Amino acid sequence: MNWPSNITIKEVGPRDGLQNERTLISTEDKIKWINLLSASGLKHIEITSFVNPKWIPALADSIQVAKGINRVEGVSYSALVPNQYGLSHALESNIDEVAVFMSATEAHNKNNINKSIDQTIPILSELVKDATSAGKKTRGYLSTVFGCPYEGKVAIDQVIRLSESLFDMGIDELSLGDTIGKANPRQVEVLLSTLLKHFPADKLALHFHDTRGTALANILISLDMGITTFDSSVGGLGGCPYAPGASGNVATDDLIYMLDSMGIHTGINQKKLLDAAKYIQKKLGKSLNSHSLKVYYSG
Ligand code: HMG
Ligand code: MG
Repeated sequence: MNWPSNITIKEVGPRDGLQNERTLISTEDKIKWINLLSASGLKHIEITSFVNPKWIPALADSIQVAKGINRVEGVSYSALVPNQYGLSHALESNIDEVAVFMSATEAHNKNNINKSIDQTIPILSELVKDATSAGKKTRGYLSTVFGCPYEGKVAIDQVIRLSESLFDMGIDELSLGDTIGKANPRQVEVLLSTLLKHFPADKLALHFHDTRGTALANILISLDMGITTFDSSVGGLGGCPYAPGASGNVATDDLIYMLDSMGIHTGINQKKLLDAAKYIQKKLGKSLNSHSLKVYYSG
């Protein structure tokens, strides 16, 4: 297999991890937690979403969180932005990277952001243009790429077409979401071998939820195919409220363990990362899913 020597990990715990949690974490605790994550060596942290708090109450304090954290030099702080209202708050909060999002399937797009795909494209296009003019990096998320909770299978042509639309807008990076954790390594290989004929590997990231335990296997095949950016969530937190049955992202701590022990450099301190996982686990009052955290507790 082809192993890269370095990997970029984008921590999405404070956003994807908390958005689906019933237990509300105080603003102060979120800030302390993100500061712990910043101290672990992570270089990218998605800290919140500037969405309607009626739909995502867990992230209602996005501006206070973004303004309250310590900004560590060399760390990029990103957030989800669905519309101009959200962008104005993201710019006011001095977010480094603006992440726009849409789905590969109509039903998930409608459930998630209350728009058809055709209605969404011009909105995101303006957002990417305005965020870029404001000097921000931009990332596009395409969800339900490997399966949709409402529509089932998703055609590769549709994924290519929408990825093209997102790149045409001018995004710096595209993150392909296995929103409900359905993907298997063979499916990843088939999708990537087509996608990589259209887009360079260094512009793509993969975002695997680990609902069925296949995320690390999916990451291995992606690595072999040249992908070097992955999204993950400390402790394996995460889920989309508009994707029934979806569970957490692949755990950052498990991913780091695997990569570091393979000699693939992540630059992240496992002990500090596990301290951050332990911190949020206590605040949530429940056991998180990561294997590394369980090992850590068993001494
Ligand atoms: P809408 O209802 O269609 O929006 O929501 P609207 O423009 O008609 O406005 C309705 C109300 O929302 C208005 O308030 C607006 O002011 C307010 P009212 O006049 O009724 O009092 N509003 C806002 N408030 C705060 N911030 C905003 C904002 N925009 C409008 N930005 C909208 C459209 C997209 C905003 C809504 O549907 C929404 O917020 N949805 C949440 C979607 C979400 O966060 N989903 C989870 C993240 S995606 C994900 O998890 C997948 C990912 O991880 C990848 C993967 O796993 O595949 C990224
Ligand atoms: Mg997600």
